[in-house]
Amino acid sequence: EKGNYRHFMEKEIHEQPESCQRTLSAFANPVSGQTTVPGGLNFAEVERIQIIACGTAFYAGEIGRYAFEKLAGLPCDVEVASEFRYRQPALTKGTLALAVSQSGETADTLAGLTWCKAQGFKTACLVNVHTSSMAREAEIVWPTWAGPEIGVASTKAFTAQVSALLALAVAAARQRGRIDAAEETRLVARLFEAPGLIAQAVADHSEAMTAVAHDLAGARDVLFLGRGAMFPLAMEGALKLKEISYIHAEGYAAGELKHGPIALIDEATPVVVLAPPDEVFEKTVSNVQEVAARGAEVILITSQDAKVPHAPGLRRIVAPDCDPFIAPLVYAVPVQLLAYLTAVQKGTDVDQPRNLAKSVTVE
Ligand code: M6R
Repeated sequence: EKGNYRHFMEKEIHEQPESCQRTLSAFANPVSGQTTVPGGLNFAEVERIQIIACGTAFYAGEIGRYAFEKLAGLPCDVEVASEFRYRQPALTKGTLALAVSQSGETADTLAGLTWCKAQGFKTACLVNVHTSSMAREAEIVWPTWAGPEIGVASTKAFTAQVSALLALAVAAARQRGRIDAAEETRLVARLFEAPGLIAQAVADHSEAMTAVAHDLAGARDVLFLGRGAMFPLAMEGALKLKEISYIHAEGYAAGELKHGPIALIDEATPVVVLAPPDEVFEKTVSNVQEVAARGAEVILITSQDAKVPHAPGLRRIVAPDCDPFIAPLVYAVPVQLLAYLTAVQKGTDVDQPRNLAKSVTVE
């Protein structure tokens, strides 16, 4: 039940500290500082990962890809299942097929998984419903522990998927000899900082947040920009806003701005920029200046201390200070809150958006 919350989505946003903690605990131990891979897979024997997913789970997969490649040096592809299943992809020997799904029932994702299994590839799934069709189909079942998600717009299942994928990337890095035990312990400690930082982000009832949501509610189009793991999170932010507020939104890699989308920029198109202070921060800031100079309203989500140049039309939403490794978990919250508050402002049916079903079991 909803308890004191207006919507399941609001409740589920608030449940993320616990769902993240529970999920991390299935893949890592905060006391020993070690990761574990449920089902006993050894990533040293895996040559490539092929992630198959739809919607929000696809964006979680993209965030996972950045971590698998950067930390573990493990090649990783991510594809939307509806394309993957019909195009006869040329997977190479040693590929692990990984289906990512909240429900474990999404028709296209399940079909992609079944296809990989029939071709003789090793299969795994990362699912929130542990008794689902995908859990029965895959050789290895990795659980997320978000608990039942009722809101059609996925929130806590997404951060649970990202938590699991980041922890698995650390495990893979260790098993493949890319990091030593001390670095594993350091990264596990960073991961377990996420639940507390998510709790801080969830408690943001700042005027800035409310005022921005108010403005977004009046927009026809909104752009989301980010670099690195913030790029898939930008696409996730755009999807969230579309789904529940019916505002057209696009997520772009900030570096792609000049290659087309900058033509859209005007006073009426707010631009939400996800910019944790990481190694690409300066580059993202220069993109901010480009759009601000064209009169756009820029909403910059970054930490309190990040040095941001003054620009007219630039507003800041403060995200908790965090290690860049866990920024996708922490920054997911302001992105979800913006979409949620904008939809509430517009008065849409947040938990049951038009035309959408929670689980897409037909293609
Ligand atoms: O159950 P699944 O994770 O397989 O569902 C995939 C998508 O249908 C789902 O993430 C959808 O995009 C959500 N409505 C996003 O909020």
